[in-house]
Amino acid sequence: MAALRKALHGRFIQPLPFCLGSLRFASSSFKAADLTIERNSAPKPKPDPSKLLFGKQFSDHMLTIYWSEKDGWQAPQIKPFQNLSLHPAASALHYSIELFEGMKAFRGVDNHIRLFRPMLNMERMHRSADRCCLPPFEKAEMLECIRKLVEVDQDWVPQSADASLYIRPTFIGIEPSLGVSRASHALIFVIIGPVGPYFTTGTFNPVSLLADPAFVRACRGGVGAYKMGGNYGPTIAVQSEALKQGCQQVLWLYGDDEQITEVGTMNLFIYWTTESGEKELLTPPLDGIILPGVTRQSLLDLARQWGEFKVTERTITMKELIGGLEAGRILEVFGAGTACVVCPVGSLLYKGQTYQIPTMENGPDLAKRFFKELNDIQYGHKQSDWAPLVV
Ligand SMILES: Cc1ncc(COP(=O)(O)O)c(C=O)c1O
Repeated sequence: MAALRKALHGRFIQPLPFCLGSLRFASSSFKAADLTIERNSAPKPKPDPSKLLFGKQFSDHMLTIYWSEKDGWQAPQIKPFQNLSLHPAASALHYSIELFEGMKAFRGVDNHIRLFRPMLNMERMHRSADRCCLPPFEKAEMLECIRKLVEVDQDWVPQSADASLYIRPTFIGIEPSLGVSRASHALIFVIIGPVGPYFTTGTFNPVSLLADPAFVRACRGGVGAYKMGGNYGPTIAVQSEALKQGCQQVLWLYGDDEQITEVGTMNLFIYWTTESGEKELLTPPLDGIILPGVTRQSLLDLARQWGEFKVTERTITMKELIGGLEAGRILEVFGAGTACVVCPVGSLLYKGQTYQIPTMENGPDLAKRFFKELNDIQYGHKQSDWAPLVV
């Protein structure tokens, strides 16, 4: 197992499936070929791409796919965007049997629409479903249904060099009874909507972080490695605490040695000079408390491809970060995620003391290089098999 992990550069493998091994679920899946489309007869006007707010506007259609233990998967449906009707005992509402994904479609300079490494999202969704005891599906069929939805609503992909279409696949248990048990009814739905650039000024704005060991986002043996809604609701109060203390986001710590895990809803990267004088890019390993980000994987893949500095996935502690800052060895600290690609960190409030982080003073050369590389691929400036054409 250790050798396999090493070969995969620390990509976290779930050693045993939780529910997928169950014969009950066999290998059945819905099929994109069975998809039916009901067109919206009253499409909405598209918003001004320069005034988009995250997650506030939705397109004209949505995708739904129902499953029941008795009848298996039903045919996927694309239909006018509408409210869901749920039984009040639905298990998603009581026991957070819910998972989601976050991905984007980009309108390129050639007017084609691209996704970014979408199979990584499908794989993560499948792992989350397994951990929630929700039924398996064929990832390629799921992706084709999403592609079809984007095609139907293609006019909602903004014509803009920095806006995109956010895609939110969601999977919920809709078991209509209150026992804490595996859901016998489930629903996948996908909603999409245009979103603006994360950095509205077009330049990077560094964020300030609160690092308080009193709070944890995830713990070993828990579900931090899965994109379940239950991981996010409890972070809102901690985020409010950060704002109260004059910080913009939370640096999530873990354990007695105060391991640095993630920043807000992003993976964390540190670019520094090691004590022996080597340049190194560091990020925490996929040890079960880290969400395996698509952006994280992409930055690691790029950096390893460049081969210009050391790239390491290992546990990093606050003591090391503070020591590195005090010795002037920290070059850049940044978050990485679909929302922003990279987000520079400018300061850190830890045990009542504010530490300045010289990310902006150092360019940030590496964060900017990563941003440009991914942006070029996403918007079609650079052809890459990471960005398959959708339309
Ligand atoms: C906790 C957490 N970490 C990291 C990420 C970044 O993941 P990705 O690069 O797939 O967007 C996200 C966002 O999905 C997240 O919610």
